Amino acid sequence: MPTPHEIVARLTLEEKASLLSGQDFWHTQAIEGVAESVMLTDGPHGLRKQGGAGDHLGIGDSRPATCFPPAVALAASFDVDLVHEVGARIAAEARAEDVAVVLGPGINLKRSPLCGRNFEYFSEDPWLSGAMGRAWVEGVQSGGVGASLKHFAVNNQETDRLRVSADVDERPLRELYLRAFEHVVTHAAPWTVMCSYNRINGVHASQNHWLLSTVLREEWGYRGLVVSDWGAVKDRIAALRAGLDLEMPGNGGVTDAELVAAVAAGRLDEAELDRAAARVVELVRRVPRPGTETRSLSEIHAENHAAAREIAARCVVLLRNEPVDDTPLLPLAPDQRVALIGEFARSPRYQGAGSSRINPTRLEDALSELSALHADVGFAGDDLTEAVALARDADVAVVFLGLPAEAESEGFDRTTLALPADQIALLEAVLAVQPRTVVVFSGGGVVTLPFASRVPAIVGGFLLGQASGGALADVLTGRVNPSGRLAETMPLRLTDTPAYLDFPGERGHIRYSEGVFVGYRWYDARELDVAFPFGHGLSYTTFDHDDLLVSGDPNGFTVKVLVTNTGTRSGRDVVQVYVGKPGSQLARAPRELAGVAIVDLEPGESTVAEVRIPTSALAAWFTGRGWAVEDGEYHVAVGSSSRDLYGHTHVSIAGDDLREPLHLESTIAEVLADPVAGPLVAAGLADAAGSDGADDVEGVGQMMLSFPIGRVVKMAGGGVSLDDIQALLDAANAERR
Ligand code: GLC
Repeated sequence: MPTPHEIVARLTLEEKASLLSGQDFWHTQAIEGVAESVMLTDGPHGLRKQGGAGDHLGIGDSRPATCFPPAVALAASFDVDLVHEVGARIAAEARAEDVAVVLGPGINLKRSPLCGRNFEYFSEDPWLSGAMGRAWVEGVQSGGVGASLKHFAVNNQETDRLRVSADVDERPLRELYLRAFEHVVTHAAPWTVMCSYNRINGVHASQNHWLLSTVLREEWGYRGLVVSDWGAVKDRIAALRAGLDLEMPGNGGVTDAELVAAVAAGRLDEAELDRAAARVVELVRRVPRPGTETRSLSEIHAENHAAAREIAARCVVLLRNEPVDDTPLLPLAPDQRVALIGEFARSPRYQGAGSSRINPTRLEDALSELSALHADVGFAGDDLTEAVALARDADVAVVFLGLPAEAESEGFDRTTLALPADQIALLEAVLAVQPRTVVVFSGGGVVTLPFASRVPAIVGGFLLGQASGGALADVLTGRVNPSGRLAETMPLRLTDTPAYLDFPGERGHIRYSEGVFVGYRWYDARELDVAFPFGHGLSYTTFDHDDLLVSGDPNGFTVKVLVTNTGTRSGRDVVQVYVGKPGSQLARAPRELAGVAIVDLEPGESTVAEVRIPTSALAAWFTGRGWAVEDGEYHVAVGSSSRDLYGHTHVSIAGDDLREPLHLESTIAEVLADPVAGPLVAAGLADAAGSDGADDVEGVGQMMLSFPIGRVVKMAGGGVSLDDIQALLDAANAERR
């Protein structure tokens, strides 16, 4: 079979150019006998396949598909196997619907909780975002369908998203905003990568050669296809040169003609088109022929809906469950009279708005599902008087609060973390008559919970997809023991958040002034209290953790901890391992998530949870040098959240030699620290100090430590020559090799 390059070599210039933009809104260009037209469509938490013209804003309708929990909830599972399963299930529907690429996952970091699209992203942490994104890509692609890793890169807000420049220093760029992309590209090889709308340090991602070629292809070895976000290409010729292969959506051949004209005028090398066209051909050839799928689409939908309910229940985060009269309010007791309050209990908020809006095959609401599981359930929507009366006469009130659909979406950011005032008023009125109150929160972005200390139980439902009602009913009744963990910190105040003073930027620029301190890294470094920390989540059972053990080896270390279910019901524990580098030569957060282990235990059962941390996970970005691992002691903390740390230990790591070669601009301090040059220079300084009666070396040295040695020699005038010093430094450098 001819290679894609051989196929492309036979095409005319016009045919090559025609492959480099869409045939229409969702399909690649067909060329008879060369390449079929294949469909790329959204994603990520289900299939959004439109007939006809289509749109990328979730306005037009789409074919029914299973709406799984969006990323905000999936990440709360901390469970890569669960996310892989979701990917595989979406792929089954995509294959049945003849879709070649599902546009997802979205793995941009949650830099500010105000970002309107945070519902579609996984986490504030790059390790968790990478793990979740990789699992989703591997799941989808295991089903013979391509993924489109997005939005590459630094797309952390919706405000002015097609033009704004994310101005970010190299270290946070590498360690945070590119880290998850690097993990997914190098481990899961997504068929496509979607460039983002925004600029990065002034250059549009769609024509950012450093991003799309130097980093993505040359450094990370990516061999797939780069597709634009819909409408992200500003300059088609610059974009092609930068490494952007396919412009979407189609534009009737306008930009194809620009490419042809540029080649004809000698302004563009035809080889640039050959390279991109070969990738389009390669993509089309990856699409499996209609497979051996025996199930009908309706059978796939039925199976996927049942699975969606179990998956969603795994994503629910039990934030608080304080005893009232010595008994936790949750799970609900079977004989209790329950007052279900709030419109979200009847009309669930289960996904976000915009290009990811799925037309669900079914929709479960909590009222119906709880009524099917629990004998005595009363309901009141937002009529306050009715709600108060119902709550007063009940044994327990369950109040559904959250962000209305119009409060958060792709395309715009929030300006507040507060819940709507009418919901707060409803809750206060219920609390006044019924202290035994549970709050269930629905929303894609975190909110402030000023009432948290006065509400005995709080359930973080976030957005759980079409089976959200059933999943919440399963958790409220105890059919499922919640095990979700926060993938994003819930702050006490918006003003505490890392991006607060920058967000959403000004005059086309957003400064990432917090550097590497995003999410819990910020709150921990600043020792700020938070409402609920990253990684937090309770269970209906309890766990003990003992016998923490860390064993190192040349490639990293393994953390082991004995976990025991000390409660009365089975449950899942999520063991989190955080690593810090005391005394680092870089500004670092106290601790960073480096791995997790999930254990499912029966009452009384114990097991050893094991987390493998490769040395590479400890690497930091040294500007001017690249990735490197600092030598020495690392602090290892194990816990149930970034703040609830039940085990602490240390591990010694043989890192990289980070010493820079000595030269005349090396400071006195740097030279004194060198085992060869140090003693000789110290002696010279002592002599110099002794001869003219100046203060002792320490006194002189303390002031001079930051002076480059060459400058000191010149200032000293005579005595020692620059050549002598250079020879000494050369000898010291030679000793290191
Ligand atoms: C949208 C989104 C992107 C989506 C694409 C197609 O604008 O930014 O995530 O996949 O266009 O709908």
